[in-house]
Amino acid sequence: MNQQPTRIESESFPELRIFLLDWFRKNKRELPFRINKNAYRIWVSEIMLQQTRVAAMLPIYENFLERFPDPNSLKEASEEEVMKYWKGLGYYSRARNLKKGAALLVDRHSGKFPKTYEEALEIPGVGSYTASAVLSIAYNKTYAVLDGNVKRVLSRLFLVESDPTSSATDRFLGTLAREFLNPDSPGDHNEAMMELGALVCVPIPNCPVCPWNDRCKARAAGKEKEIPASKVVDNWIELDLNFLFLRSEEKLLAVKYPGRRFFKTIYSLPFRVEGKHPYGNEPWLEDFFSDPGLSQNRSNARHSITNHKIRLRYCELDLKNRKDVERKIGSVPGLEWKWFDESELKEEFPSSISGKLLKLKNKRDKQQELPVGNV
Ligand code: ADE
Repeated sequence: MNQQPTRIESESFPELRIFLLDWFRKNKRELPFRINKNAYRIWVSEIMLQQTRVAAMLPIYENFLERFPDPNSLKEASEEEVMKYWKGLGYYSRARNLKKGAALLVDRHSGKFPKTYEEALEIPGVGSYTASAVLSIAYNKTYAVLDGNVKRVLSRLFLVESDPTSSATDRFLGTLAREFLNPDSPGDHNEAMMELGALVCVPIPNCPVCPWNDRCKARAAGKEKEIPASKVVDNWIELDLNFLFLRSEEKLLAVKYPGRRFFKTIYSLPFRVEGKHPYGNEPWLEDFFSDPGLSQNRSNARHSITNHKIRLRYCELDLKNRKDVERKIGSVPGLEWKWFDESELKEEFPSSISGKLLKLKNKRDKQQELPVGNV
């Protein structure tokens, strides 16, 4: 791998930009956030797309905007309701920041996404990528976006072979993205770069349909599949999470507390991290998990959260006296709890984990219904 990024000749830029825009205008996907240039809608789409693919975010995006069509409706909603509409996207701090950002838009910018980069950066959850994306797409401001797809496209087009994980390469690509930006159509140019990276210049590229197929330097060098060099994910943490269906008077317990490692901002079933792991468990949980009436289910499902590969399991505990449970958890600082109906699990614990746990549970309930013996 080259340590020094390449020097780029910029004479080719005008023609490359035109080919790109022409391709984009003919081939772009009709996406709901492209229908009009409403900055609030574009901001929401950019935040959702940060960790989620377009196909997965679309139904959630449309429901979210139907319920929260403008910053004021998002500001006024309860955090719990916002989380429900965010369900399926994960990374819930994004939703919390959106709600805080909506309040800032209403309170300081008359309900509009601001027009300067500095003001955009003051919005919680908005960094240089989101500020550049929203300002260029909504207001045609000349800020270049640099996400993973754009880095791949630029690295191939201009044969940047330096280490893709180094900050020197990042800085180099940032400068290149700014110089390559089309000053006449920055919004479309940015979207076209991202779209090309999503549809054509994918990790195994589809060069025959690329607008730059005979201009791409990586392709000319026969290196289009090698650039950028793939990075090895070596910081996976394997975890076992055991979720507790704690039932009392036909209701389940949901808890929320900011001190825990996962789901700091939403209600979940109580859970314990098991096996070898770097995280602590709450002492109050141990009482329930060591209760002699606990029934542990052995089947499991997979899930991942950031760099955690998680094995999900569940157990069940029926406690007659709800007051005893409440006494125990009532003394835990910062802990919020509520009782809810099991049929509402997916709404009350708005993570795809709840669906996975219900599947495990349905499977087990069905097995228990089978007649005993050889039939
Ligand atoms: N990824 C993030 N934002 C995008 C956009 N506006 N178009 C295509 N891909 C994207």
